Amino acid sequence: MTAAVPTIPTDQLPKHVAIIMDGNGRWAKLCGQPRAFGHRAGVRSARKVVRAASKAGVEVLTMFAFSQENWHRPLEEVNLLMRLFISTLKREIAKLDEYGLVWRFIGDHDAFAPELRQLMAETERRTRRNKGMTLLIAVGYGGQWDIAQAAASLARQGEAITAEAIESRLVTAGYPAVDLMIRTGGELRISNFLLWQAAYAELYFCDTLWPEFESRNLHEALSWFAGRQRRFGRVPEAA
Ligand code: FPP
Repeated sequence: MTAAVPTIPTDQLPKHVAIIMDGNGRWAKLCGQPRAFGHRAGVRSARKVVRAASKAGVEVLTMFAFSQENWHRPLEEVNLLMRLFISTLKREIAKLDEYGLVWRFIGDHDAFAPELRQLMAETERRTRRNKGMTLLIAVGYGGQWDIAQAAASLARQGEAITAEAIESRLVTAGYPAVDLMIRTGGELRISNFLLWQAAYAELYFCDTLWPEFESRNLHEALSWFAGRQRRFGRVPEAA
């Protein structure tokens, strides 16, 4: 039986949702399996959540697939993740237009293999004109790196370093600020994810390990968000 999907009025829906998908390794361990098993299950979870977010009417979904710090994991796990990204993209590329998603990859991609970079470029190119939800995959991403590269770009061109100017050079320039940041897996931190963009995000932490996070969990987070009163540093209306 499919659970009823709560309809959230558009004005109470986050425009931009960002997700830190944590807990693949611990879930695999609980299953008595190697970490690779958890990461493969993590990809299946990601696919379901992308569909659910797109159906719910989210405009931008950013998923933290690989942080700059993840380069420090054992080489075997880094290689495994790279192979997994390549095979996932090859598979997804075949059905790219299914949901009309616009795919973008954000982060420092210099150290990635040419094959992966080509696949990322090809996916972006083929979905550029789609009209559905924008899916930003953060790979090789770090929030501090993002701010630093924005400032460096302004400095190179001799431009004044103001908040607006920095924002216009972040890799997310042109997209709305993060409204809702979700972290699965029980840790209470944002791990150098979208530091600037999440300045006023509502933070949603849950204990569910990423491979067990489903559409239902996303709907729970969206409903929780709809009940938040956002003040952006001001006093509440009619206070
Ligand atoms: C966290 O689990 C997850 C990652 C390091 C990122 C990998 C994410 C995926 C494979 C999901 C697929 C995403 C896309 C969009 C292709 P962890 O290893 O940190 O878990 P642990 O904290 O339990 O060790």
